Parts: sequence; structure tokens; C-alpha cells
Amino acid sequence: MQRRELLAGGLGVLTLGPRAWANTAHLHLKMPPLLDTTSSGRAKLTIEAGEVDFWRRGQMSATKGFNGAYLGPTLRMRVGEVALDIHNQSREATTVHWHGMLIPGAVDGGPHQMIEPGAWWSPVLPVAQAPATLWYHAHPHGRTARDVYAGLAGVIHIVDGQDDARGLPHHYGEDDLTLVLQDRLFDAHGRMVYDDSMPSRMHGLHGDVVLVNGQIGARAQVPKGLTRLRLVNGSNARIYPLAFVDGREMHVIATDGGYLPKPVALTHLVLAPGQRAEVLVDFADGHDALLRAAPDPNAGPMGGGGALDVLALVVDHDKRARMRRVPQDLGGQAPALQVPTRVDRVLSLDMGMRMGAGAFAINGAPFDMATINQRVKLGATERWRITSNMLLHPFHVHGVLFQVLSLGDQAPPAQYAGWHDTVLVAGSAEIAMRFTQSASDAHPFMYHCHILEHEDGGMMGQFTVV
Ligand code: C2O
Ligand code: CU
Ligand code: CU
Repeated sequence: MQRRELLAGGLGVLTLGPRAWANTAHLHLKMPPLLDTTSSGRAKLTIEAGEVDFWRRGQMSATKGFNGAYLGPTLRMRVGEVALDIHNQSREATTVHWHGMLIPGAVDGGPHQMIEPGAWWSPVLPVAQAPATLWYHAHPHGRTARDVYAGLAGVIHIVDGQDDARGLPHHYGEDDLTLVLQDRLFDAHGRMVYDDSMPSRMHGLHGDVVLVNGQIGARAQVPKGLTRLRLVNGSNARIYPLAFVDGREMHVIATDGGYLPKPVALTHLVLAPGQRAEVLVDFADGHDALLRAAPDPNAGPMGGGGALDVLALVVDHDKRARMRRVPQDLGGQAPALQVPTRVDRVLSLDMGMRMGAGAFAINGAPFDMATINQRVKLGATERWRITSNMLLHPFHVHGVLFQVLSLGDQAPPAQYAGWHDTVLVAGSAEIAMRFTQSASDAHPFMYHCHILEHEDGGMMGQFTVV
């Protein structure tokens, strides 16, 4: 049975699909509003319920967002303290987690730090890490999938003002594009719907259209030269094997944790939920390009199995590119940990029939708010082995950046140079990291699968660092 037929019973089937793109050829992609904290050191975020007419046909979808109806502003931060004032004006409690930030558990915004309706949360983030593209999103236990799907996510740029010296494009929305990729499902009226069926719980929810920054079918304008794309996979479950249809190269300059020492040129880049990559793409040839995602290897026969168009990039011939050559020295630090030769911890990502469909766990135990699963010593460098026997799982750890030592017991592919906070585990992965941020029993760090339906289902654990 096709997913469309499956959904027809409960939700009604959408037949708009990619065909509706024809009406949107002139639509320019918008960036999330930029909220620059680099001089003030502060920002205010309001959690709101809203409505969005995604298809521009007068059909409103119920959404949530920060300072707006869907998604949130891009927070630009630099090293130093950033004071946030977060006001929950929605009717449900939630949390705000700073994914990829090296900050203590007390301000990490995990499931123990609920912000009740009407309440404020005002954490002060001690930003002390290299420039990187990070993101923030809701993280209430059992409801992360719904909240992020509704729109509670936004992007963070950590900057140091040195991109001109590096030779990197950095003009927001001009030659430096922030792109939040999210696949979504719509009903026959064009209203966004969340699908809670068993296949969606097992494989994670897959939509059949990709929204970029909350927009359907918009095109990005790029200068005739180098453009920087900050790709953020903000989807609940979709893994994007990305490539340009014309085969043009993506020069990877940064991974989750920031700049590489030098760029890595790839034609194919796999971005799993939670992961970020920054790439330079050269449009000096003046040709438009289409970024496309091959089928998600996890989607299964039921959900969103096909290739999806992600974003059309159109060269603006009047816009001179500021940067023309891919710089060779980015100044990023390659991981150089004293890696322990023995594995310190083994975590098996469990799902499947044995536990009943829709049941998820790590080392046999589903997430429990009241149980601390691991205790790590502050300052320790550890080697973790992650295993799984069904599907691919993007494994994420809070409060650290790690080096990927191996994937499936092989050397990891080129895109895993540099520092990461999320690794796509296929069978097995080994990672090494040094724990520099403290986390107490009251505010522990999480590790989990970033397929949000798996995380909510119990494929998560928590750890202290003392
Ligand atoms: Cu992006 Cu625990 O989350
Ligand atoms: Cu995180
Ligand atoms: Cu998973």
C-alpha cells in the first residue's frame, strides 16, 4: 500500500505535491530574521502559537515559532556571555535546547528545564567555542517531535569577525545563506499535518515536500561566484543524501563543530537529522542549479521514499560575488585528542519486535526522566562505541563535540573530518570526546537518536559530568 493511500483514510490525500512548484517560480527564498547579539550580548525569544499559509492558497496550518509563527530568528553570537529572555506565550510547556553549544547542563535546555505556559526562562550562555553553525529547538520529553514539527527551531551562528581574513563569504542572506531543511506532510487542503501512524513512529515521520526556512518552492538568489550555504537538517527523521543535479562540487568548510583546517570537495553529502554542514558552491559559470536529495535510506516502502527537490539556486547576474576563489586555509582545528585505545562505554540503540513495535531504548532501557544512565568525570577523554541492528540512527550527544573514529568499523568518509555532535550510525560507530562541561543530577546532559520519533519513543539516555 502506498503511503498516500494509507493517509487517505484519516487525513485526506494531498495532490498538490511538487507540481504546485510551477506557481512559485518567482518566489524568492527568505532568510530567517537575523537577531545579532554580538554587541548587546542579549536576545529575547517568545514562544508563540501561530498560523501559516504554506501553499499560499488561503489554508492556514497551526504552527509554533519563536518571535513569529514558524521557526525562529537566526541568533548571531560571539564568544562571551549571551543573556536570553525566553517567554512562553503558547499554551503548552516546552524547553529550548542549544544544540551543539559547549555550555553547562544548567543552561542546556534539556527535558528537565520545562518552561510552563506564561513563564519565563532566562539562561545566560557562556559562549566559548569556535565559529560554527548550531541550532536551537524544543526538547520536552515525549513531545520533541511534535514541537519541532510545529516549528520550534532556529539557527545559531557563532562568529568571530574573521571571515574576511579567511576569504569566506559572510553577508547574511546575500552570499551566506542559512538553509533549514524540513520535510512536511500536508492534507488535501494544504494544511500541515503530523502523522502518528505506526510506520511513522518506526521510521520517523517523513513528509513528501521539503520546506526551506519554512517556505515551499522558493528559489534562492546567488551571486555569480562563491556562495556559502549553511545547511541545517531540522527534519524530524529524513536523512538527505544531497547532490546538485548538475554534479557541481560542494566545498565543505565546516561541520557541526565549525571550520575544517581546509575545505573538502564533495559531490555528495549526507545530512542526517540534527547535523549541519557549511559548503561553498561556485556559480562563476552563471548557471542555475538544483539541489536534490536522493531517497532516504531509512524511509522504508511506506514513507516519502522518492527523491525530493530541495532548493533551486538562481544566479543573479547583476550581483557581483565578493569572493571568487575557494580559500585553502580555513584555520579550523583538526581533532587531536589522546584517544583511549579501549572503549569506555558501549551504547546499543534498540528497537524492534522484541520490545514491541514503537518501543525504543538504549541498552535495553527506554528513557526515564528519573534515571541517570551514565556518570562521566569532568575533564575525561572517553571512547564510546555505538551500535544498532535496525535502521540508521543519527546519534547526538549534548555538551561535547566529538571526533568520529570509525563508522561500521571502517574509516569514516571525508565529510566526517572535523568536529561533530551528531553521527549517523550504520551498524556501529566509535567516537572520542573530552568532557569539559559540567552537568548535575538535576540538569544532566542527554544522548539520543535525533530521529525525533525515536527519541520521544525512548531512544535517549542522560548523563552527569562531575
Ligand atoms: Cu538537537 Cu538533544 O538535541
Ligand atoms: Cu543537543
Ligand atoms: Cu533512531
